[in-house]
Formats: sequence, C-alpha cells, structure tokens
Amino acid sequence: MRVVIVDDAEAAACRAAQEIAALVRQKPDAVLGLATGGTPVRCYRELIRLHQHDGLDFAAVRSFNLDEYLGLPADHPQSYRRFMQENLFDHLNIPCEQTHVPDGMASDIDAFCQQYEQQIQAAGGIDLQLLGIGSDGHIAFNEPGSSLASRTRLKSLAAETVRDNARFFGSEADVPKLAITMGVGTIMESKQCLLLATGANKATAVREAIEGAVTARVTASALQMHPHTIAVLDAPAAAQL
Ligand code: GLP
Repeated sequence: MRVVIVDDAEAAACRAAQEIAALVRQKPDAVLGLATGGTPVRCYRELIRLHQHDGLDFAAVRSFNLDEYLGLPADHPQSYRRFMQENLFDHLNIPCEQTHVPDGMASDIDAFCQQYEQQIQAAGGIDLQLLGIGSDGHIAFNEPGSSLASRTRLKSLAAETVRDNARFFGSEADVPKLAITMGVGTIMESKQCLLLATGANKATAVREAIEGAVTARVTASALQMHPHTIAVLDAPAAAQL
C-alpha cells in the first residue's frame, strides 16, 4: 500500500481528487466506486471545481456507490442517493442513469444485491474505488466480523457506527440499523482503491488498517492485500503510524 500523508484535510481531499481526475482524463468512460460520509465531501467539491473550471468531463463516466441505508427512499434527506446528488452528481455532467447507488427500498434484497454485482461486472469492474474508514475500521458498511470475501448484501450496523452517524440524523434512534453494502470481496476486485482518512478520531482505525494484522475485525486491513491501494491521510489521521 502506498501511503501519502499531507498536512490537513483540505490537502488530502485535493490529493484524492487529483487521483480521480487523472483517471477520468486518461479513461473518459472510467467506472468510479464512490463513498459517502463526511470525509469525501471536500474531495467531491474539488472534483466539481475541476469540472466547472478545468473542463473535467464526466459525460461518459459510470459510478457505483458502496452502500445505502435500508428503508430510506432516494429522496430522504439522509439517504446516500440524496447525498450523492447534492454533493456531487447534480453539479457534474454525468447522466443520472450512469450513476448507481444501492436501492434502500428494494423489495427483494437478495435479488437486488445480486443484480448490483452483475451491473458492476457488466460495466467492466470498478477502475477506482474511493473509500472512507469508520472509527471501528470498517469500509463501506463491512462492520467488524464481516467476511473478507463478502459480496454485496444486507448488513447490520455496529453500535459504534450508529453512534457515529447519529450526527447526520439528529438522534441514534433515527439511524437505520441495516444497510445494503458492497462486500469486502467486491471492493477488493476494484482495480485501484483510494482510502481517504482525515482527523484524529480516525488515527487508531488507520493504524490498525495499515500496520495491524489483516483481520475481519478491521475490514479496512484487507486493503493491505490489494496490489493497487493508495491511502491519503492528513497528519492527524496518520498520527499513530
Ligand atoms: C459510513 C459509511 C462509510 C464511511 C464511514 C465514515 O459508515 N458507510 O463508507 O467511510 O461512514 O464516515 P465519515 O467520513 O463521516 O467519518
């Protein structure tokens, strides 16, 4: 794994956006794997700037998001589909039908998950998967104990994740306790992974993911086995390395 440490969250976001932009310039119909949460917001802002001011073209780009809360309709204020529209897609020239976010309202979850995997395959696989990290070391919603070979499926959220994400919902009780998520195995098939982590509250998870044992207890540690992973960290997130 290549580890890049920069001063602050803004520099980390710009570094991550540069990686994505370089891929899109080189392969205009790139398949991007995208993430939600607080961490990627600055990176998306930089991509929007590159689109609006440098002509970075997303017309042929396809995208697949990592996860979605179960039971939230696309237009729910906290759905990851809505997050992606507001923080990225609405500001780019990417056609909506080329963007994919798991459907939290799917009636047959297993069939939906299988179909999501097939859609990724049919697109030729993910060229670059952007990832954040949970404070318990999870990637997407692959909570501690998830199989490192897991595929897209329904997953229950760990209590720590519910607590972490309550800040977006107002209260812990309002946070859905289940989500559809790509599996660790799905993520590991991406041609390139880009882990973005900022802030002191991620320092322990980052240390365990990068320097700890490869274990299902810290699903981000599987990235140590991925041949093309870059971790972009700000100084506070890298403080325990
Ligand atoms: C959620 C998402 C993850 C994300 C994590 C960290 O659990 N499913 O993909 O990495 O939150 O989010 P944040 O960037 O807000 O700390």
